[in-house]
Amino acid sequence: MADWRVSPSLALDELVVERLALGESIVHLGFGEVRLPAFEPLVERLVAGAYRTAAGPVAGGPALREAVAGYFARRRVPTGADQIVAGPGSKPLLLALNLVVRGDVIVPKPAWNTYAPQAELAGKKAFRVPIPAQAGGVPDPGALRDTIIAARALGRDPRIVILTLPDDSTGTLASPELVREICVIAEQEDLLIVSDEIHRDVLHDPRTRLTSPAELAPARTVVTTGLSKNLALGGWRIGVARFPDGVWGRRIRDGVIAFASEVWSTVAEPMQRVAEYAFAEPPEIRGRLADSARLHGSIARAVHRIMVDAGAVCRPPVGAFAVYPDFSPVRERLAGRGVTDSASLSRQLLDEHGIGVLAGHLLGDDEDALRFKASTSTLYGDTAELQRQALDSADPARLPHVSDLLTRIGEAFGKVCG
Ligand SMILES: Cc1ncc(COP(=O)(O)O)c(C=O)c1O
Repeated sequence: MADWRVSPSLALDELVVERLALGESIVHLGFGEVRLPAFEPLVERLVAGAYRTAAGPVAGGPALREAVAGYFARRRVPTGADQIVAGPGSKPLLLALNLVVRGDVIVPKPAWNTYAPQAELAGKKAFRVPIPAQAGGVPDPGALRDTIIAARALGRDPRIVILTLPDDSTGTLASPELVREICVIAEQEDLLIVSDEIHRDVLHDPRTRLTSPAELAPARTVVTTGLSKNLALGGWRIGVARFPDGVWGRRIRDGVIAFASEVWSTVAEPMQRVAEYAFAEPPEIRGRLADSARLHGSIARAVHRIMVDAGAVCRPPVGAFAVYPDFSPVRERLAGRGVTDSASLSRQLLDEHGIGVLAGHLLGDDEDALRFKASTSTLYGDTAELQRQALDSADPARLPHVSDLLTRIGEAFGKVCG
């Protein structure tokens, strides 16, 4: 029997839920769920769609695909509706890509914990390449070249490189120059670029320029995105992929549609109504995205400050809702408390201080590194009312229910590192 394990972030979440049920008090920074209430106009579309019980085309209905094509065109990536395939979340679309496109996969280190297991499920090998100092979500270009050479010397055949723009693990965004360098290598080495842009619409500062590889290497880039993160709809399962125009792109798209036809058939019709509305980006959706991005930025920056004050080096977050501190500057002090690696650091934070984080090695990082991902989107409040307050606040970190949690996190790190 194959040795498949539950995704580490979901496994940690289950553990935390068990401990909470036993009465423990835990601040859960280990789960990338966006704790915000459903946006009412989305609920209205969902309810109105409930009467549509027949299954439509596998790739998604024409109205939805037109709306998604418009979404990409507004982001400097001209797109036809026939280049779009919808799925029940972007996760299954990413798995389909792994199964359709031959060759091994290169992922940044650290990276979202699903990329490598999906490659392995598809019978491939995942090669992890360290991220540059500047930002996560992309492999360091020099290390990428070295890895391709080393992989080929081992008889492997790397053909896909996955980028996360912006990066969910570190909350950072690769610069246009870095993206350009990766595109050049992809052209030279004949790699397909998979650009996971699921956090694109929650860049904290609307002026931040994201350059997609689909702009620079359109013939060899597939973009995936969805509504789980930007509109906090993780449980509704809505994702889309944009395929390159041209023969290769159409072949990959047709393969993904064939896979979908045997696995999920089509995205639930009520969800397609939601997605059609959201991807058209009417003013109220844009307003909601702007409020969400402001909130994510404010709290991610507050947690970043706590980590730096505790002695970590940490890239400042500019998108999504996480920070990725590195506690190596206080390694000796931590060693005195029995913390010597990623696993013991996350264990001590949970067992002794009630702080749940996703240990770096679970994201493919080195086991002896003192790093973890702290998701900050679970700090907005436990009820819809508190979450709404956070969303509406000009300074959410000062709201009592948020600042209490930030204080608790600060005190815990003061004890671990002090
Ligand atoms: C970087 C990244 N990509 C993709 C996904 C998958 O999201 P979904 O399948 O809900 O679209 C996630 C969700 O955790 C993520 O963090």
